[in-house]
Amino acid sequence: MGRFLVLGATGKTGRLAVRELTRRGHGVTAVVRNKKTLADLGLNKVKQLEGTILDSFTDEQVQDMVSDADAVLICLGHVLSFSGIFFPPRRLVLDTLKKVASAMDGGKKKKRIVLMNSNGVRNKSTGEVYPLAERILTGLLYFTLPPHADNVEAAEYLINEVGEHANVEWCCVRPGDLLDGHENEDYEVVGSVDPSKGVVLGPWKTSRFQVAHFMASLGEGGKVWEDWKFRTPVIYSPALGA
Ligand SMILES: NC(=O)c1ccc[n+]([C@@H]2O[C@H](COP(=O)([O-])OP(=O)(O)OC[C@H]3O[C@@H](n4cnc5c(N)ncnc54)[C@H](OP(=O)(O)O)[C@@H]3O)[C@@H](O)[C@H]2O)c1
Repeated sequence: MGRFLVLGATGKTGRLAVRELTRRGHGVTAVVRNKKTLADLGLNKVKQLEGTILDSFTDEQVQDMVSDADAVLICLGHVLSFSGIFFPPRRLVLDTLKKVASAMDGGKKKKRIVLMNSNGVRNKSTGEVYPLAERILTGLLYFTLPPHADNVEAAEYLINEVGEHANVEWCCVRPGDLLDGHENEDYEVVGSVDPSKGVVLGPWKTSRFQVAHFMASLGEGGKVWEDWKFRTPVIYSPALGA
């Protein structure tokens, strides 16, 4: 069975990823700000480390965490409050990702990063086309909403700086609007945003369960990983579409 490190494990998607991984029999270590959250959810099989990657652990400690895992799932997101959006850490996802990737870079074995991102982030390297209104809107969001800029820069860091690294393999998963519930595997994964399904303005949605399920499958490696590593897949649920 695999060993996973999950960041953002107490979040709405992260907790589903933890549940899915433990259901599949894997060992999970979660870095959490408050141990009570997962305990209250009955996720007792998880080893919890209290703190944050950015503030609580040295580079050596992160290296140890990463070397103990086959894959790191990052489901971090800014708390949607004024301070969560506009106060530090304004680059929560990017800076955490950098610390994890650099810990992997210093290790001896190949590891996987599965990053939860957003379809509001366009992968320019693949020539992805967004409708004009969506490009204007996501451009505005980049300059006004730090969590969106964080997601953009985290994806660009993987694409442009980590690239096809020998030790640090990655996949950047880009869901659209997220829903709770809908705990089924009725989802499809494609390489690029489908402009007809929209982005910020589109009606297409995905459930957090489906994102967590796909992220768990990626983290396990195998064919799913070989199909999507070094890529930025978009996940859609046909049943939750227009
Ligand atoms: N909402 C959408 O429709 C949507 C759509 C596409 C993509 N996304 C992206 O998906 C990601 C996750 O979404 P979600 O709804 O599952 O998120 P969520 O429920 O808000 O969970 C966020 C997680 O990040 C942690 N966190 C927040 N601030 C932190 C900090 N300063 N230091 C350490 N940990 C921190 C939270 O910990 P605590 O429990 O301790 O607060 C929690 O575990 C986000 O990056 C978001 O941009 C969202």
